[in-house]
Amino acid sequence: MKEKKMRTLAEPFRIKMVESVRITTEEYRSEALKRSGYNPFLLHSSDVFIDLLTDSGTGAMSDRQWAGMMIGDESYAGARSWLHLEEVVKELTGMPHILPTHQGRAAERILYGILGGQGKVFFSNTHFDTTRANIEFTGATAIDVMPDHSTDPEIDLPFKGNIDIHKLKELIIQYGAENIAAVIMTVTNNSSGGQPVSMMNVKEVRELCDDHNLMLVIDGCRIAENSYFIKHREPGYEDKSYEEIAKEMLRLADAFVMSAKKDGLVNMGGLLTLKDNTLSQKCTNLLIISEGFATYGGLSGRDMEAIAIGLKEVFDPDYLHYRIRSTAYLGEHLKLMGIPVVWPIGGHAVYIDAKKLYHNIPVKEYPGQALVCDLYTQGGIRCVEVGSVMFGKYDEYGKLIPAKNELVRLAIPRRVYTQSHIDYVIEVFDDILELKDQKRGYRITYEPPFLRHFTAQFARMD
Ligand code: F0G
Repeated sequence: MKEKKMRTLAEPFRIKMVESVRITTEEYRSEALKRSGYNPFLLHSSDVFIDLLTDSGTGAMSDRQWAGMMIGDESYAGARSWLHLEEVVKELTGMPHILPTHQGRAAERILYGILGGQGKVFFSNTHFDTTRANIEFTGATAIDVMPDHSTDPEIDLPFKGNIDIHKLKELIIQYGAENIAAVIMTVTNNSSGGQPVSMMNVKEVRELCDDHNLMLVIDGCRIAENSYFIKHREPGYEDKSYEEIAKEMLRLADAFVMSAKKDGLVNMGGLLTLKDNTLSQKCTNLLIISEGFATYGGLSGRDMEAIAIGLKEVFDPDYLHYRIRSTAYLGEHLKLMGIPVVWPIGGHAVYIDAKKLYHNIPVKEYPGQALVCDLYTQGGIRCVEVGSVMFGKYDEYGKLIPAKNELVRLAIPRRVYTQSHIDYVIEVFDDILELKDQKRGYRITYEPPFLRHFTAQFARMD
């Protein structure tokens, strides 16, 4: 029988409102980049043509979400929109205590502020940068526990986001259960290529936590995307719905932190959900001091309404298929052109191995930052370095201790760009390939003590 030809992956939505984006010249962009200290975080968004800096809070809401905004209840206490959100999140997580926050890191600050402190240790498959910063800010230690092979950008495995169970077992014994504040599973594993975590892995972590009486936190801001990978890659889940898979995973956790700016399909919002009553009381007290009353926590009623709707829409099979396949479309095309990408392609972003692409730039001159700057200058594309700028440290002599990899992340906002925008991005990489051997690195001229990539300034080595 003749095989059916693959059709274009057409977006499962049509456009009801448009936002203009400005096309600038290379000269203009070179000047703009110079003015921003060669840090694209400091560019004006109006100077960016295609913004792949983050998938966080940059998505487009649906007509239903916008309609929900109009019926948002702005009451200070017990708002209808809060009750709607609480109901949706209780059903999703199975947890009794739901705390709204203005974004993910506020949930992290509250939870890890209580669990952390001097002498405490957290283990994670990979701590996201705000997670690590919130933990270290309390004086606690954050340790990533990845299998050695997972940091190899080329190795092709279905669940490269998994934690290393054997290492975790050894570390629990080494540090002593009494000093361990929590094990955090980041799902999908953002800082390690947006790679998924298997249900089996989370189940194994749960068992280990039970054996040692440890708390398991799921950082699940991309849990719907992770569920897609489980359904299509993990035996036994073929016939489950994406929502059922997410529910099963969340029922393994003691706490859930979520930046709703990702799979909540909204521009602002976060959640902290908990099983334990006492811990929930402590968190609620901190929430009220710093975020807002327990039934809005830094959000307007309309924001909460939009999250409640977004958390349902995100599990729509057509949406999730388009979402994961369109990210893969970019990654697969770049790979075919010979661009070294982290393989397999993750859920929300394509990660490029800048050390390999810009092999003539030494790590101490930040090849990832060089690629980020070139993508902006060549094509008006904004993205972020996930390498030694983001995760590098210094030894006692001030020498750079580099990150494991020098990656560049092209994060795809949800429901924002069409296939022709993505085709344009692919074309810009032709120029990158042509010029790559003439590239120079960068040095840092200013950096703050925490999360330096946001505000650091650079100078070109030439
Ligand atoms: N956890 C993970 C895994 C994240 O990816 C993020 C944010 C956060 C927590 C913090 O959430 O931004 O709402 O405070 N990630 C964004 C990104 C910023 O670009 O990957 P937030």
